[in-house]
Amino acid sequence: MYRTHTCGELRIENVNETVTLSGWVQKARDLGGMTFVDLRDRYGITQFVFNMETNAELCEQARKLGREFVVAITGKVAERESKNSKMSTGDVEIIAEKLEVLSKSALPPFTIEDDTDGGDELRMKYRYLDLRRSCVRENLVMRHKMGIEVRNYLDQLNFIETETPVLIKSTPEGARDFIVPSRMNPGEFYALPQSPQVFKQLLMISGFDRYYQIVKCFRDEDLRADRQPEFTQIDCEMAFVEQDDILNTFEGLTKNLFKKLKNVDIDYDFPRMDYATAMEKYGSDKPDIRFGMEFVDLSVIAKGNDFKVFDEAEYIGAVCAEGCANYTRKQLDKLTDFVKRPQIGAKGLVYVKYNEDGSFKSSVDKFYSAEDLQKWAEACNAKPGDLMLILVGDKKSTLSQLCELRLEMGTQLGLRDNNVFKPMWVVDFPLLEWDEDSQRYHAMHHPFTSPKAEDFHMLETEPGKVRANAYDLVINGVEIGGGSIRIHDTDLQAQMFKHLGFTDEEAKAQFGFLMDAFQYGAPPHGGIAFGFDRLASLFAGIESIRDVIAFPKNNSGRDVMIDSPSTIADEQMVELGLDYRKE
Ligand code: AMO
Repeated sequence: MYRTHTCGELRIENVNETVTLSGWVQKARDLGGMTFVDLRDRYGITQFVFNMETNAELCEQARKLGREFVVAITGKVAERESKNSKMSTGDVEIIAEKLEVLSKSALPPFTIEDDTDGGDELRMKYRYLDLRRSCVRENLVMRHKMGIEVRNYLDQLNFIETETPVLIKSTPEGARDFIVPSRMNPGEFYALPQSPQVFKQLLMISGFDRYYQIVKCFRDEDLRADRQPEFTQIDCEMAFVEQDDILNTFEGLTKNLFKKLKNVDIDYDFPRMDYATAMEKYGSDKPDIRFGMEFVDLSVIAKGNDFKVFDEAEYIGAVCAEGCANYTRKQLDKLTDFVKRPQIGAKGLVYVKYNEDGSFKSSVDKFYSAEDLQKWAEACNAKPGDLMLILVGDKKSTLSQLCELRLEMGTQLGLRDNNVFKPMWVVDFPLLEWDEDSQRYHAMHHPFTSPKAEDFHMLETEPGKVRANAYDLVINGVEIGGGSIRIHDTDLQAQMFKHLGFTDEEAKAQFGFLMDAFQYGAPPHGGIAFGFDRLASLFAGIESIRDVIAFPKNNSGRDVMIDSPSTIADEQMVELGLDYRKE
């Protein structure tokens, strides 16, 4: 028998029992007369004692154990003299009687401890060792529980989990597709799904009524901390619903997950903010509302004092940092450097200190009197002791620069606590967005999203102003999910394709099957997809989704452990009809 108990199980009640445990050697300490071995498995760590006096041969054997050897040890449970309250098994130790080495280990390239000496790349190369560390494993255990809770909740609401294919053709989510060549159809390719969007809509036409799937999606896009080329969605679709039905259902799911996984009660309705307000007040469609510091538009009151930079600016925006009037020259210079970084791109930063004594000190004192600055302070709701930070320029870029500045100030002031959760819905997204490169409109969400009925009349004349029945779930500044009510009318869908620059032929070639399906009775429907990895990393309190994925890719899209992507054999290329070198 390999084990009678796990390494996390034994307590004072087990004293005097003879037990066998199997696991990995966390460490072996040789103290001359005694050798202590810490044995680790998924469940915890248990200490074994080998005594030179009572069993010299066994003790010699124990001394030869290296880190990460796999062993089975039998012995008698004893109460420890010096207990370790930090370990669940810390009240006991096992007096070893028998030791069997099940597998030797090479010296691991980094220490298998929470506080490891292994850097990122090294840990990814040896991810199977990294996964032995409890802090990494716990994130995956939490992810597993999240999956169970999602399934339980949606099952209870009559959702049916349905698998959809992975070898499909291009899906319209706006990123690039990963492509798979078809051997049996030379010159033709499958695409991996960016999401199961079209299939879930087809399932609604099939009358499935409520669908969900915890599903892998693939997008060939630039990677960031919250983006992986393959990631997982909780993908859902419902028939005979309006926007409110979807928001309420998935608000319920979110609250349930907070309760079950974090024991956090969210006993209020998630605030709903329209896209235009989010952009105006936070410069982002995913505002972090754990703190205020909303933008104040000074474009009207700050003009007319012969300060060219302000007078010529399309937009003058301010944020008020509470209690920061005492910022030093050095701190302000650092903030200025921050906004001037190429990734942010501001030309400069104007500050106004509203001193405790009621006086003002600003970087634009030459142009503005104390009375002028007082007006700004009133607009910003600033109190003595506060600091106003101002950026100017064209509206679109200035809003996004101010967004970065606000987040930076929030971080500096400790207002973005990972244990505080502020969910919200952002609604009324624009239906279309102008793309400078292709000089045409693109669907902001995807081409099946329905326009708001009251904006419909602008579709021909002012397409950029039409709002959609589209929504995002945002938590702590992270886009956790997004979805929309779909178009279920064939004519309207055809019109949408036209606006998106598809010719009839192109629309038919790409989405003919969906247009056809719509002719056979499509119920009104809509849905949403949550980023499963993003939600898991939020619950785990970590920035990067990599740490909640067992085998993630690095920022260049590589799996450094299995060394993929990689080249393939010439014969494989030929077989797939990809042998361009032969031509
Ligand atoms: P959307 O494109 O908004 O919508 O995606 C839904 C959610 O998936 C997550 N997500 C990602 N997570 C990790 N890495 C990525 N590369 C990545 N891309 C997206 C985000 C996002 O909110 N079919 C629609 C849903 C619908 O309309 O029902 C869709 O995929 O958390």
